[in-house]
Amino acid sequence: MITLGIETSCDETAVGILEQGRVLANVVASQIAHTKYGGVVPELAARNHIKVIMPLVKIALESAGKDLDDIDLISVTRGPGLIGALLVGLSFAKALSIALNKPLIAVNHLEGHIYALQLNGSCLEYPYLVLLVSGGHTEIVYVKDEFVYETIGKTLDDACGEAFDKVAKLMGLPYPGGPYIEKQARDGDLGTIKFPLPKPKGYSFSYSGLKTAVLYYTRDNPKYDCSNVAANFQEVALEHLVKVVSATLDVKKVEQLGIVGGVSVNRRLRDKFHVLAKKKSVMLHIPDLQYCTDNAAMIALAGTRRFEKFGPSDLSIDAVSREALDVISD
Ligand code: KG4
Ligand code: ZN
Repeated sequence: MITLGIETSCDETAVGILEQGRVLANVVASQIAHTKYGGVVPELAARNHIKVIMPLVKIALESAGKDLDDIDLISVTRGPGLIGALLVGLSFAKALSIALNKPLIAVNHLEGHIYALQLNGSCLEYPYLVLLVSGGHTEIVYVKDEFVYETIGKTLDDACGEAFDKVAKLMGLPYPGGPYIEKQARDGDLGTIKFPLPKPKGYSFSYSGLKTAVLYYTRDNPKYDCSNVAANFQEVALEHLVKVVSATLDVKKVEQLGIVGGVSVNRRLRDKFHVLAKKKSVMLHIPDLQYCTDNAAMIALAGTRRFEKFGPSDLSIDAVSREALDVISD
């Protein structure tokens, strides 16, 4: 089966093509229009998706060596995300489905991130734990079985990637700030600034206190060293993830741990979780870099699996700005 995946939930327009689960094309257009605003402007995001979606499908088909007629299934993100942005991808996918007379499957974006773990051919045994850590979400999901999810804990305020972006913004670094913080942190010295480690409530995360501590520090020390702030903020932000996941692994006995979402690109995060995985004797899975951040290959794979089990979505299906994984469990 050849699946065309479409992802437009935020500021990345992405198209992916999969044949029997193997990636033939994975193209992503990241919108730079938001950089000067220091965050995503929803209206701009939707307008930019409209501009690039058609050319991107063409590029993906060319790089896969396929024609539109070769496509057997169209898989598209229906949420969670920015509603205007989602509607562009969903409407486009519906139109394509009608024009080509091919089935449509609508996918949850978070489920897509979880399926990114299998894009390199890995097959995870159920049950397993996933830490989903991106700009919009920070949560631990217990994947009991295929399509059966239990959210163990999530952030009470900011997502981890959002905290990276906000700290970068207050130091005048470009958006999205995560990669810039990581780069700056390489030249910083750990232990030069003491930022408070968030205290988890149960298995929840919280980043607003840490973010505020960085804000006060930079305000009270106008000649601050950007690299030291980045290094010490990053260390505490990641240590918080490690602590909560470690506590979760003590109660949920699994043999495999996956980490997905944009922040899982971070080298320091990968190093810290390799140490934790060894200590807890779990196998660690993190997608290849191109599949950590938003992409449509992951949407195509999640859609293919859903379609094989449940059949197509109805063409009347709507976009949703919020949709927890537990709700879509079957
Ligand atoms: O998964 P993603 O592409 O989009 C969402 O679904 O949110 O994640 C984007 C987030 C942004 O907050 C970005 O700053 C963060 O991932 N990010 C990073 C790094 N690369 C991207 N955070 C820390 N270190 C990185 N190297
Ligand atoms: Zn995402």
